[in-house]
Amino acid sequence: MAYSEKVLDHYENPRNVGSFGKEEEGVATGMVGAPACGDVMKLQIKVGKDGVIEDAKFKTYGCGSAIASSSLVTEWVKGKTLDQALEIKNTQIAEELALPPVKIHCSILAEDAIKAAVADYKKKNDA
Ligand code: FES
Ligand code: FES
Repeated sequence: MAYSEKVLDHYENPRNVGSFGKEEEGVATGMVGAPACGDVMKLQIKVGKDGVIEDAKFKTYGCGSAIASSSLVTEWVKGKTLDQALEIKNTQIAEELALPPVKIHCSILAEDAIKAAVADYKKKNDA
């Protein structure tokens, strides 16, 4: 299957790959798996004292669309509040990357990973 140019761009030059140290202040982690294919995505956010996401990193063991989706959302969440980050929809990701129907679940993985990271932050910080 042909990947769109945007998928290839994010796949070949993924933004924000890696992870933060666990001890770093304001860091929270979301880890999700896709039952459909077994791919796994880990997404971390680093939240400032003002409640704004300063930085994000990811590690994804999965297909090109999953890697591109996670790369894209790490860019999108920066500068957003937690509530704004929760508004990111997989349909926006799929549209931006022009994902075909069989790859929609890859974008759902990215939306779920953000939600899991925000939930982890709220749990840790009573936010
Ligand atoms: Fe094989 Fe996602 S199904 S990498
Ligand atoms: Fe399963 Fe992309 S995450 S094929």
